[in-house]
Amino acid sequence: MEIKNYTRDNIDFGRNYTQYSEMTPSESIFLSETIKDSGAKKIVEIGVAAGTSSLLILDTIKNIEDAHLYSIDYSTKYYRDANKNTDFILDDYPELKTKWSLYTGAMSCNFLEDIGKDIDLCFIDTTHCSPGEFLDYLQVLPFMKRNGIIVIHDIAFHTYNNELWNTCCILFSAIKGQKILPAFTEHKYTPNIGAIKLSPDTYENAYDIFNCLTLPWLYKLDEKDYQFLKKHFQKYYDKDLTDIFEKAYKFNSSLLEKENRAQTLYTYTKNIYLTMKYLKYSI
Ligand SMILES: C[S@@+](CC[C@H](N)C(=O)[O-])C[C@H]1O[C@@H](n2cnc3c(N)ncnc32)[C@H](O)[C@@H]1O
Repeated sequence: MEIKNYTRDNIDFGRNYTQYSEMTPSESIFLSETIKDSGAKKIVEIGVAAGTSSLLILDTIKNIEDAHLYSIDYSTKYYRDANKNTDFILDDYPELKTKWSLYTGAMSCNFLEDIGKDIDLCFIDTTHCSPGEFLDYLQVLPFMKRNGIIVIHDIAFHTYNNELWNTCCILFSAIKGQKILPAFTEHKYTPNIGAIKLSPDTYENAYDIFNCLTLPWLYKLDEKDYQFLKKHFQKYYDKDLTDIFEKAYKFNSSLLEKENRAQTLYTYTKNIYLTMKYLKYSI
């Protein structure tokens, strides 16, 4: 683990940034300095909202030759106010838009082939509850440089908001690689943003995150999104891993529909019985 003591003055893009930013000043500084330190040029952001983190990243890379930000959001409309577009605060900064591509209206697997491989840095900031960021990470991982960087926001969300919204913490903990954390946080307990320098074997250890998908989900995936994800995972991962995704989807769909918890337990008991029989244990 590496601790970074970034001490830049507060980032100030004016009233819009302060009003709509979903990151604290120290988190904004951490993201900006991590980009600068790493020399990242091909940057992807998943989760745009009003556009404040896009603005921060675009300002950070404005003088870096060939740098480009690709921003993705599931929603075309700002998720807190449907009268505004996702990214609307960027309308005031046309000069920064030359290094920017925005994709909205679907999950990232629908856009990543267009964006292409060799991503240096990906910033993930979406739902904070399962399966959200687990899926975001697994979609982008095959497109990351082998030594790229993943930055995850809201890794301490469960310590100051709903304690069940712990997905970012679990994801941050489970990804293999060198963890980087800020020395300071405005929050009461642990820092709420962190970076991971991927290692050559991170991709080979994707099981670690696929298995997290079997944890309880807080929302059900749309059938269309499920089909897109399945196709994407089948293309970039082994069948064993894709099977985990499919089973996690089925398991969680049935739990969420409260369809038949008793049935799930019944299947479990039956499977244990069959396994023991198969292993020739006495039952
Ligand atoms: C917490 S906000 C992002 C905040 C933004 N990064 C900032 O700092 O201002 C979460 C955003 O993620 C988007 N989102 C939710 N699920 C998503 C998904 N699967 N893929 C892409 N975006 C998603 C929502 O529409 C919302 O705009």
